Amino acid sequence: MGDVAVVEASGLGHEYSTAGVTTRILGSLEFIVASGEFVCIVGPSGVGKTTLLRCLAGLLRPTFGSITVDGHPIARGNSALSLVFQDYGRSLLPWLTVLANVALPLKGTAPRAERRDRAVSALHEVGLGDVLENYPWQLSGGMQQRVAIARALVVEPRVILMDEPFASVDAQTREALEDLVLRIRNHGGMSVVLITHDIDEAIYLADRVIVLGGRPAEVRANIPIPFGRHREQLATKAEPEFAELRARVHQLIGAPDDGRRPAADQGNPRDEGARQ
Ligand SMILES: Nc1ncnc2c1ncn2[C@@H]1O[C@H](COP(=O)(O)OP(=O)(O)O)[C@@H](O)[C@H]1O
Ligand SMILES: [Mg+2]
Repeated sequence: MGDVAVVEASGLGHEYSTAGVTTRILGSLEFIVASGEFVCIVGPSGVGKTTLLRCLAGLLRPTFGSITVDGHPIARGNSALSLVFQDYGRSLLPWLTVLANVALPLKGTAPRAERRDRAVSALHEVGLGDVLENYPWQLSGGMQQRVAIARALVVEPRVILMDEPFASVDAQTREALEDLVLRIRNHGGMSVVLITHDIDEAIYLADRVIVLGGRPAEVRANIPIPFGRHREQLATKAEPEFAELRARVHQLIGAPDDGRRPAADQGNPRDEGARQ
C-alpha cells in the first residue's frame, strides 16, 4: 500500500434545501484515501453516509469544500471511480444478460470483442464465469451483487466506492462477498471506500475506519486497523484487538441519530469482553 493520496476531501460539507429550509448534513470533513487502501466509513443511519458517497462519486456537488482524485477535481462519469450500490435489484438492467450488463460501462471505449473479453474476465474474477448468458433476475441476490461488482471492476478503476453493498443479502452470502472484495483489492491494488453501518464489517474489511457522527456529521475518529492484508472471518474476529476496536467504534458512534456524544475516543468501552 502506498502513501500516495488518491482521494482527498478537504473542508467537505453539504446542505440540502427543501421547501425553503436548509439543513447542514455534512459538517467540514477532512480525509484522504491512499493508493490501494481499504477505507470503511461507518456511522449511524441518517448521518449522511450516502450523501458523502454521492459527493465522492461526483453525483452530488458538495455545498462546501473540495474533493480530488489523483489531484483532479471529481467529475461525473470519471472512470477512475466505480460505484456499487446496496440495491443490486435496481442497478442491473433486467433486459440485458449478465455479460451485457458488465460490458455496459465500456460502451464506446473499446472494440466489441475487447469489451466482451474484459467483461468475461471481470465475471471470472467474481466467480461467475458460468452464467454469462443468464439474465440478472435468474440469479440469487448474492450473485446479482457479484455482477454489480464485476461491472464496477470492468473499467479498471482506481477507486471502488460501495454504499452498504451487502446490506440486502443473508449473513453467509455477506461473508463470502466481504472476502471477495478483500481478494479483489489484494489482486487489483485499487483503493476501496466502503460505507456501512455495520461496525464488525467495517473493522473486518478496512485498513482504516473513519467514524462519522453528529449533525452536521463530522469525522469523529480515523482508526488504523492493524490486521494486515490477510483476514479470515473467524480468526480475525476472534482477535482480542477486534473486540477492543468494536467497543471503541461503538462508543464513538453512540446511540443512533444521537449527535450529542463527545468526540473523545478513549476509555470506558461498554461492550462485554472489550478489555481484559
Ligand atoms: N435529496 C435530499 N434532500 C433532502 N434531504 C436529504 C436528501 N437526501 C438525504 N437527505 C437527508 O440527509 C440525511 C442523511 O441522509 P443519508 O446521506 O442518506 O444518510 P445515511 O446514508 O447515513 O443513512 C437524512 O436526514 C436524510 O433525510
Ligand atoms: Mg445510506
